[in-house]
Amino acid sequence: MDQFKIIEGRGFAGGALLVFDKIDSTNSWALANLADCGNGDVILAVEQTAGRGRFQREWFSSSGRSLTVSLVLKQFKPELASNLTQVAVIAMGGVLMRHNIFCNYKWPNDLLASSGKIAGILAELDSIADTIVLGIGLNVNLTVGDLAWLELIQPATSMQIESGNQHDPMQILDEFLCEFDTMLNLTNTSGLSAVLEKWRASDALSGKSVEVTTPSSLLRGRYMGLSDDGSMLILDEDEVVQEIRAGDVASVLA
Ligand code: BTN
Repeated sequence: MDQFKIIEGRGFAGGALLVFDKIDSTNSWALANLADCGNGDVILAVEQTAGRGRFQREWFSSSGRSLTVSLVLKQFKPELASNLTQVAVIAMGGVLMRHNIFCNYKWPNDLLASSGKIAGILAELDSIADTIVLGIGLNVNLTVGDLAWLELIQPATSMQIESGNQHDPMQILDEFLCEFDTMLNLTNTSGLSAVLEKWRASDALSGKSVEVTTPSSLLRGRYMGLSDDGSMLILDEDEVVQEIRAGDVASVLA
């Protein structure tokens, strides 16, 4: 068993914070140990050796200079399950804004700061345990040199590159957990539309032509914004609006 330190009550919604010095992937660990995790437990790795992004892409992080965490969510509104990524993106966007880093949001899970991607969210569902593991990767104090040699599908940046200052990953985590709670409460009181409004106000794909890989096809068209349930609307080459619930924006064409 990997060694970790437990800090009771320091996770999400009264859950514990489990701190690992080094682990392959916080999402992988959480999914493999769901039975031992409580609702709101947060798994944090100072160093992640096999971090995963969406579609099994590698997620680069650097010891102590990235925030790599996973939230174990056992209690959630089923109708909100597919929107938790968007809620987390908006929460992180709010945290970064308070540090004077302004992001646009790229459907479904990316935060883009002025010089590149700064954070990504990876939500994974264990349908048998009825649990969602929400993985958050944020580039905190990575330098241009750290990122220069990576073969990235899009440019990357960090809080330090954007602000010129060093930031404390643990403090950012606390701020994120608080803001995530606030955004979840907002969806409870005002509905998902309140969170989606924030997305629409800073939508990275607004007005763009895109190429989208869905589970069943490759689609080209014009991005038409979000539907009321957070799906992506694409006007395809036959002038038909397609509603995409799952997929990847392979490229932004113009
Ligand atoms: C993406 O942009 O595709 C999502 C990246 C998510 C990375 C985080 S880091 C913590 C958690 N553990 C992982 O292995 N992945 C997520």
